[in-house]
Amino acid sequence: MSHLISTYARLPVEFVRGEGVYLFDNKGKKYLDALAGIAVCGIGHANSELSANLKVQADKLWHTSSLFAAPEQEKAAQTLCRISGMKRAFFANSGAEANEAAIKLTRLHAEKLAIENPQVISFHGGFHGRTFGAMAATANPKIRAHFFPHLRDFVHLPFNDFAAIEAHRFNPKIVAVIFECVQGEGGLHPAEKEFVQKLRKICDERNWLLICDEVQIGMARSGKWFGFQHYDISPDAITMAKALGNGLPVGALLVNEKTENYFQLGMHGSTFGGGNLVINTVNKVLEIYERDNLPERAEKIGNYLKNLLNEKLGGLPIVKDIRGLGLMLGIELNRPIENLVAKGLEKSVVINVTAGKVIRLLPPLIFKEEHCRELVDVLFQLLKNEQ
Ligand SMILES: Cc1ncc(COP(=O)(O)O)c(C=O)c1O
Repeated sequence: MSHLISTYARLPVEFVRGEGVYLFDNKGKKYLDALAGIAVCGIGHANSELSANLKVQADKLWHTSSLFAAPEQEKAAQTLCRISGMKRAFFANSGAEANEAAIKLTRLHAEKLAIENPQVISFHGGFHGRTFGAMAATANPKIRAHFFPHLRDFVHLPFNDFAAIEAHRFNPKIVAVIFECVQGEGGLHPAEKEFVQKLRKICDERNWLLICDEVQIGMARSGKWFGFQHYDISPDAITMAKALGNGLPVGALLVNEKTENYFQLGMHGSTFGGGNLVINTVNKVLEIYERDNLPERAEKIGNYLKNLLNEKLGGLPIVKDIRGLGLMLGIELNRPIENLVAKGLEKSVVINVTAGKVIRLLPPLIFKEEHCRELVDVLFQLLKNEQ
């Protein structure tokens, strides 16, 4: 009998080792990893530079808290602000926590505007995490069930439907909008450019904050540092996590010049956020991403993979759509296929299925063309006889 609380339907494969884009199970079988720990291990597994860096830091200092000078946090914040155009960062431990900080930011905005019981627009198909604030922002009834009452801050509207936003133009309670540029958990639905640009405009006109949840798409996965950079807009705040620590838990809220002074002394905190071991790794991760130009690499290899998917799978009767940005790609099927992920594991690839029938590909950004071919060959075998 398991002593783990059963929140996950775990597949019976035990990974014991990783190397670049490959994972190895306890029987020595090798798998091509097209999931990267759910968009986390952008630099792949057991990267020797990251491991060496971590070992040095592990022998020096693990944790002191944020009560003391934090030059490594400053350095990470400086890099993140430079690549995002934001002004300041707060470090937390996960995507949900980064979003909690963003939700608090919307309350501070409301306070400035003297708006009581403020509301934030979020979208059907979006996913922002499992904590109470992030869950309330998430429209999916499966995530929300069992945990009522929820925070009442959120108005859930259809994605890519500006008329629905327009209907709230004069709603005096709205103070912010939060969205993902490509909805990850929700089925790899990209935001339309016109929709995002209109969002930015209405946020300016109505003095609403525009917040991008970059937890899954951020850190170069889209082929640019951040998803919003595909839309020629700049948000007021972004949240990130996942790939920032390549596997160590870290999240961040980044704010722009409008919101940089909203949080003041004592208004927010985290024991572990930006701890020495983690933030030192974040700096190394950022250094490697910049040196190896991973945004450009993700764009190039993402285009290669998408073209290959279209060419080899596009004509199959079961395949309805192939979409996404960079190395965040989805293959929507006409219907769910039972045990598809397990069947992939049998054929030595790690994939994911989200929203019931969308195969989600989130490989490490160090994927090469040969890895794309290997992956697409297996996907073809898995899908070719399905009607
Ligand atoms: C877009 C988005 N936001 C937030 C989260 C929550 O992140 P975490 O699981 O680190 O709390 C996720 C996780 O999948 C995500 O994809």
